[in-house]
Amino acid sequence: MLRTHTCGELRIQDTGKKVTLSGWVQRSRDLGGMTFVDLRDRYGITQVVFNMETNAGLCKEARALGREYVIRIDGNVAERSNKNPAMPTGDIEIIADAISVLNPSKTPPFTIEDQTDGGEELRMKFRYLDLRRNLIKKNIELRHRMAIETRKYMDSIDFIEIETPCLIKSTPEGARDFVVPSRMNEGQFYALPQSPQTFKQLLMIAGYDKYYQIVKCFRDEDLRADRQPEFTQIDCEMSFVEQDDILHTFEGLSRHLFRVIKGLEIGDFPRMPYEEAMKHYGSDKPDIRFDMKFVELNDVARGKGFNVFDNAGLVVGICAKACASYSRKQLDELTDFVRKPQVGAKGLVYVKFNEDGSFKSSVDKFFSQEDLKVWADKFRARPGDLLLILAGNPYETRHALNILRLEMGDRLGLRDPEAFKPLWVVDFPLLEWDGEAGRYHAMHHPFTSPKKEDIPLLESDPAKVRANAYDMVINGVEIGGGSIRIHERGLQKKMFRVLGFTDEEAQEQFGFLLNAFEYGAPPHGGIAYGFDRWVAVFAGKDSIRDFIAFPKNNAGRDVMIDAPSGISEEQLRELNLKRR
Ligand code: AMO
Repeated sequence: MLRTHTCGELRIQDTGKKVTLSGWVQRSRDLGGMTFVDLRDRYGITQVVFNMETNAGLCKEARALGREYVIRIDGNVAERSNKNPAMPTGDIEIIADAISVLNPSKTPPFTIEDQTDGGEELRMKFRYLDLRRNLIKKNIELRHRMAIETRKYMDSIDFIEIETPCLIKSTPEGARDFVVPSRMNEGQFYALPQSPQTFKQLLMIAGYDKYYQIVKCFRDEDLRADRQPEFTQIDCEMSFVEQDDILHTFEGLSRHLFRVIKGLEIGDFPRMPYEEAMKHYGSDKPDIRFDMKFVELNDVARGKGFNVFDNAGLVVGICAKACASYSRKQLDELTDFVRKPQVGAKGLVYVKFNEDGSFKSSVDKFFSQEDLKVWADKFRARPGDLLLILAGNPYETRHALNILRLEMGDRLGLRDPEAFKPLWVVDFPLLEWDGEAGRYHAMHHPFTSPKKEDIPLLESDPAKVRANAYDMVINGVEIGGGSIRIHERGLQKKMFRVLGFTDEEAQEQFGFLLNAFEYGAPPHGGIAYGFDRWVAVFAGKDSIRDFIAFPKNNAGRDVMIDAPSGISEEQLRELNLKRR
């Protein structure tokens, strides 16, 4: 028998039992008369003791064990004299009477500890070793528990999980497709799904009523901390629903996960229109764990001879509480911060509201104490506060101030990873103008329905049309998004036209859906959560990488298996990618 118990389960009440454990040598310590080996498996660590006096031969064997050797030991459970309350098994140890080495190990290229000495690239190359680390293991376990709880909850409210194909025809969701050449259909390609969007709509037409799937999606887009080329969605769709029904249903799923995973009761899920989110936070995914809302100063800051403000489409700022004592150096740092290319501001104006009620600003030349008092009132600032102001083109300025607001939130410790503030952002615009392409794009996707009252604007003023679309945001992260769909052929065709498709192109690409709409398509809508993101947010982390067992690096590579890679001439020929 290779084991009677795992390395995480023995307790004081097991004292005296004869046991067999198997696992990896986490570490071994030789204290002359005694050798201690920490034996690790998925479930925990158990201390094993070898005594030179009672069994010198065995003790010597133990000393020869290297890190990460896979061993089996037999022995007796004994109470420890030196207990370790930090370990669940810390009250006991195993007095060993036999070891067998099941497999030796090379010295690992980095330490298998929470604080490892391995750099990112090395850990990715040896991901199977990285996955042994407790920190990553916990993430993978959290992911598993969230998947199980999602399935339980969805099942309890009558959703059924249905698999949809991975070899499909391209669905436009805004990113590029990964394509797969077809051997049997020369010159033709499948696309990997960016999401199962059209299939879940077809399942509604098929009458399945409530569908969900925990599903891999593929998008060939630039990678960031919260983006992977293959990622997982909790993808959902429901029939005979309006927006409110969907928001309620998925508040239910969210409440369930918050309750069982985090032990938290979530109160209301606020709903914030997109316009308000952009105006107050400069972002469609506002972090509402802290206030620091934008205050616009156009009416009071322009026309006083300060060119930067006078020529700006928007003068807007935030109030950092109790930061008037910031030093020159700290203010310079913030100025450098906003000038970084990814933030994009040209400069930063500050106003210190001193404790004595006076003001000190970087624009004292242009603005009197009275002017600055008017600004401070707009911010409801108090003595001791610091106003940080940006100016320029409205879109770019809001974008930059959003990043500065989050930075100040971090600096002031206002973004507690253990505090959770979910909200819905609603009433997204249906379309966004793509200046380069000279046409509109669907902001969510082309299947999203416009608000009924805005349909007449589709042809006359498309930019004004609002969508029945919503995102769930937690702590500044877009966890999920969805919409009520178009379910009528005529409206869907109109939408394709607005998006610049000819009727022929629309029929060619989406004929299957347009045709299906003619066979009794019920009103329907849904949502998809980014599962990797949700797990990471629950763990208080920004990057999703360590919540995926085998992620890709920033260049989209799996450095462990060395993919993507070339393929043989023969394969290329077979796939018709090279002339025979
Ligand atoms: P959307 O494109 O908004 O909607 O995607 C849904 C959610 O998926 C997550 N997500 C990602 N996570 C990791 N890496 C990526 N590259 C990535 N891209 C997206 C986000 C996002 O909110 N079919 C629609 C949903 C619907 O309308 O029902 C869709 O896919 O958390």
